[in-house]
Amino acid sequence: MADLTNMVIPRHVALILDGNGRWAKRRGLPRTMGHKEGCKTVEKTVEIAARLGIDYLTVYGFSTENWKRSVEEVGALMQLFRYYMVRLLKIAKENNVRVRMIGDRRRFDQDIIDGINRLEEETKENTGLTFVIAVNYGGRDEIVRAVGKLLRDRKDEVPITEELFASYLDTAGMPDPDLLIRTSGELRLSNYLLWQLAYTEIYVTDCLWPDFNQEELEKAIVQYNNRERRFGKA
Ligand code: IPE
Ligand code: IPE
Ligand code: MG
Repeated sequence: MADLTNMVIPRHVALILDGNGRWAKRRGLPRTMGHKEGCKTVEKTVEIAARLGIDYLTVYGFSTENWKRSVEEVGALMQLFRYYMVRLLKIAKENNVRVRMIGDRRRFDQDIIDGINRLEEETKENTGLTFVIAVNYGGRDEIVRAVGKLLRDRKDEVPITEELFASYLDTAGMPDPDLLIRTSGELRLSNYLLWQLAYTEIYVTDCLWPDFNQEELEKAIVQYNNRERRFGKA
């Protein structure tokens, strides 16, 4: 394990958990087995992040583009989602974790929408880690929805500032991510947090998501501490 004493713990870590399918394929298993294993890794990561003192952990669970996958895979992901929402409620309560969902939940079946609302409602007073799950989330979709809401609310005399716009995003009230981790080696954003990642430090590891663990997270934090964040200054 890395020694994190004297290290800055990023306040907000965003994660693109990728590589479940490849993890399964390498073992001759169906892709859904990779997703199942990936869900277990999400649970463990929530506990680790809470222990390390990270304030916000935002994971990409299902993108607006992931509906393009086979009916079987989407169905299996929805079933896993149903199952893990119940487990997550328990874990969140045990670890003082507040759960929040971003993305357009209206596309899900009613029981899933009810589960999401319940998770948020029953954990809203928790004061530890805020665990944010991006489901049916796309950065472009979020921006377009924000513009729609803004136009409906618009009062001519109010100037549109970055702060005002950000308050219409799903992430309203949250700090921008300090560190973005993507597993399984892909060097792209895949429509994740397009507005919020403007000045985020990016870390990509070849580790496939189901194999991700505390050691991998600590490696990313050590690397984050070696970065110089300039925000455009000289
Ligand atoms: C990430 O793993 C999980 C989701 C996108 C739901 P993938 O399913 O994308 O796994 P790979 O990229 O095919 O290996
Ligand atoms: C990004 O992974 C979305 C999630 C992790 C939920 P994908 O596997 O869908 O991304 P691409 O298709 O490789 O860009
Ligand atoms: Mg993938």
